[in-house]
Amino acid sequence: MEKIKRTRIVDLLKTPAFGTIVNAKGWVRTRRGNKNVNFIALNDGSTINNLQIVVDLANFSEDLLKDITTGACLSVNGLLVESMGSGQAAEVQATEIEILGLCDNTYPLQKKGHSMEFLRDIAHLRPRTNTFGAVLRIRHNMAIAIHTFFHQKGFYYFHTPLITASDCEGAGQMFQVTTMNLYDLKKKEDGFIDYSGDFFGKQTSLTVSGQLEGELAATALGAIYTFGPTFRAENSNTPRHLAEFWMVEPEVAFADLDELTALEEEFIKYCVKWALDNCADDLAFLNKMVDPGLIERLQGVISTDFVRLPYTEGVRILEEAVRNGHKFEFPVYWGADLASEHERYLVEEHFKKPVIMIDYPKDIKAFYMKQNPDGKTVQGTDVLFPQIGEIIGGSVREESYDKLMARIDELQMSTKELWWYLDTRRYGTCPHAGFGLGFERLLLFVTGMQNIRDVIPFPRTPNNAAF
Ligand code: 4AD
Ligand code: MG
Repeated sequence: MEKIKRTRIVDLLKTPAFGTIVNAKGWVRTRRGNKNVNFIALNDGSTINNLQIVVDLANFSEDLLKDITTGACLSVNGLLVESMGSGQAAEVQATEIEILGLCDNTYPLQKKGHSMEFLRDIAHLRPRTNTFGAVLRIRHNMAIAIHTFFHQKGFYYFHTPLITASDCEGAGQMFQVTTMNLYDLKKKEDGFIDYSGDFFGKQTSLTVSGQLEGELAATALGAIYTFGPTFRAENSNTPRHLAEFWMVEPEVAFADLDELTALEEEFIKYCVKWALDNCADDLAFLNKMVDPGLIERLQGVISTDFVRLPYTEGVRILEEAVRNGHKFEFPVYWGADLASEHERYLVEEHFKKPVIMIDYPKDIKAFYMKQNPDGKTVQGTDVLFPQIGEIIGGSVREESYDKLMARIDELQMSTKELWWYLDTRRYGTCPHAGFGLGFERLLLFVTGMQNIRDVIPFPRTPNNAAF
């Protein structure tokens, strides 16, 4: 076969150089035709669109043709011509075909229309489907949007450790990291496990958040963001929870509550607009096949002002809904940690737009949030989204050493692993604020997918760590 430089299918279709001999490589999606001519839909992952390969059967041997099966990997040389068929700009009239990889008939993606559950069981192959190709290209684009947004605003990308001895959220949902022999654990006199012989000489876990280290960085570099995996051993088997998920955590020195919520809103809108501008083909596909309201919802979010809603006012609205006959599964009262049904009621039915809830009761939020003068609430913010519920959680941080220590004592937290964090409040403390965006929650919103297991390549959930 003549060696011709490969062109990606996205480029072949974008500005087709009609009349030139090109090479394309990719995987067979479908093959159809009659006894004279066959049409192969070839996809190389560079775009949702397939390249149509026209094969004049008279020009190729039986032996070769029988191996062009669904899933096989091909290299094709041929003439790029304008396509007469609808749906594509260009097609290739094959002159030479080489089979790079045979695909036998046990290939599970023979037919279209597999269920999401089935595809999760073959997560190693599902990126080859249209839906997952689209989701994964959008996932990449959202990561680029995030880095671009923060870089342009002068935030530094800061790397925080994945192995840690501190529980940032204080919720005790950490996965332990150990090299100890679990069959022969040494205990101390008080009955607790003796970690002194463990790899780090103390008990360590996978981080639930990079925030505490992020705060150190913000009080040195001014504004930073982290973007990496975080781990939570919460046993919530819901379509919105993963045990391993990616989080984006900006932290800004000198920011107050208004600046924090403004940043949250600007950031999400930037990401959503990026998707609309850069992922049009994939979004059009998802809009057609997965969620017919998707593009309209994305456009809605970037063109509307998010509501700022104090928690107390939110509870009042929910209580009124209950009085008017609305049924919630979980009770609503001041002090309750609102469930996703409550959040979605406020967003989808009451305001019909994204809501940034502020000023939460201190007892349902983490120790580091800035305390309000009322003694009851803290300057925490959750950004609540249609379909998703909470997409961002953040807060102004308590910068006063004394107030922070008082809260830590109240919660009976140990300061043993927090001494370095507390130092920020002793050495030139400053007002600062930050938030965490769940990357997969953003992807749920942007792709219209229904289950968080379907927006990450290899999901980790209770009883599931395959691949
Ligand atoms: O609200 P969270 O717990 O906030 C923090 O971790 C703070 N330290 C962030 C900060 O202020 N720097 O988590 C932040 C976001 C949530 O709003 C949600 O989008 C996502 O992370 N998230 C999850 N996503 C998937 N699976 C889970 N189990 C998640 N838990 C939280
Ligand atoms: Mg939260």
